[in-house]
Amino acid sequence: MTKLPRQILRLIDTAVSAQKNAYCPYSRYPVGAAVLTDGGRIFAGTNVENASYGLSLCAERVAIFNAITRRQTGLKAICVVASLAKPCGACRQVMFEFSTKDTLLYLVSLNPNNRRQSITRTTVHKMLPAAFDPLASGLLAANPKNLLRNRQKRR
Ligand code: THU
Repeated sequence: MTKLPRQILRLIDTAVSAQKNAYCPYSRYPVGAAVLTDGGRIFAGTNVENASYGLSLCAERVAIFNAITRRQTGLKAICVVASLAKPCGACRQVMFEFSTKDTLLYLVSLNPNNRRQSITRTTVHKMLPAAFDPLASGLLAANPKNLLRNRQKRR
């Protein structure tokens, strides 16, 4: 891959650090995530498991919900770090909600010594073809990004 922009390197570093904070005593599968928002801010997330397994949350959703809680309006890029970085289907759908066709997805797979192994760049839309689309379904009248902007105005 060609030289990555500084903001993207920061995004990757944030996800790598977040992976170290994973709470995953059941799966022992730490995942880190970070999102770069339209406003140029970066938010982190890690997987948080629970003794009642179904209550566990993936790193990607924690990072996205963190950004949304801070009133961010859309995602420019997302990074996922794991031994095999492949977002689950549920997370892909949540990513889709706040993405455009240009939202980049960096998948960073690390080897057991946590040395960077491979970085793949794709897009959220490519990773979820035929997504359940809030616009195509008629559930949202406007672009979801505009909806998030409206949310700011309603304050
Ligand atoms: N996990 C994530 O955090 N993100 C993914 O994309 C895939 C799976 C977590 C959920 C669970 O805590 C552990 O990895 C093993 O499935």
